[in-house]
Amino acid sequence: MQALDWIWINGEQVKWSEAKTHVLTHALHYGTAVFEGIRCYRTQKGAAVFRLKEHVRRLFESASIIRMCIPYSRSEAEEIILETIRVNRVDECYIRPIVFRGYGKMGVDPSECAVDFVVGVWCWGAYMGEKSLKEGIKAKISSYVRNYINASSPRAKTSANYLNSSLAKMEALELGYDEAILLDVNGFVSEGSGENIFYIKDNVIYTPHSHSILLGITRDTVIILARDAGYRVEETLCTRDDLYVADEAFFTGTAAEITPIVNIDGRQIGNGVPGSVTKTLQEAFFQVVKGNNQRHREWLIPVEKEVTHE
Ligand SMILES: Cc1ncc(COP(=O)(O)O)c(C=O)c1O
Repeated sequence: MQALDWIWINGEQVKWSEAKTHVLTHALHYGTAVFEGIRCYRTQKGAAVFRLKEHVRRLFESASIIRMCIPYSRSEAEEIILETIRVNRVDECYIRPIVFRGYGKMGVDPSECAVDFVVGVWCWGAYMGEKSLKEGIKAKISSYVRNYINASSPRAKTSANYLNSSLAKMEALELGYDEAILLDVNGFVSEGSGENIFYIKDNVIYTPHSHSILLGITRDTVIILARDAGYRVEETLCTRDDLYVADEAFFTGTAAEITPIVNIDGRQIGNGVPGSVTKTLQEAFFQVVKGNNQRHREWLIPVEKEVTHE
């Protein structure tokens, strides 16, 4: 990771190299943190954050699920994020707000620990490499089961939930695949280690309707864009076999954007190359995030303050 200049910590911009926390921070020991992954894109009208309000809303909802009170309003949090991009003078970056139980008292109960609010940004290209977006990737159904709804609230983007993702990702990489697909406790497809999943069969687009997924903002974006383009989109129970015989499949996520899947568990998906529906949606997605689609311009929040002429 290449260092930038500033990281927001609890009310001030701190130099990147000095952005530190105590080793007895509660979240480091017990995973009591919620975070977001957001992207800022370079557009013709300058740097803009994609679906900032929706990401900040999910951050607050995640915090609420784990009974943590964020010491800012949503609009203040949005402004802190924009300011952190501005002070780092980048026009394309990945943004990581994280809110965590800090230093105070050890033990599982976090209620007497401070709540710390940090925003870091860095430059991050294609999550699985540029080639993955064009040529697609190989995925493996994981031997790990996705977090269970009544065990760790998959809807909340908590740090603790990502141990499950890390185990699945490491297993997939070690076995020569690029990414993992996790099934839920009932054996239905849930999502990737850091992405939602879609597949296409006979020109209909399907995505798992599962309580074990993170409700992705890219997932929502793709559903809207696909319907805009006239496709039928269904949220449904999905089995591994549905994936094996799909015409096309792809992952969605802020980091992964739209990454085609061309092979699952050694089975070629469709023709073994990114399919036409996937490519159409990828194209539509990049048009939107780069500000070339007027219809969804409201999804892009400018980083620089807009000058209003009265
Ligand atoms: C487990 C998991 N599912 C889905 C997603 C996709 O969510 P989004 O599109 O909001 O980034 C992510 C990425 O944050 C993730 O980590």
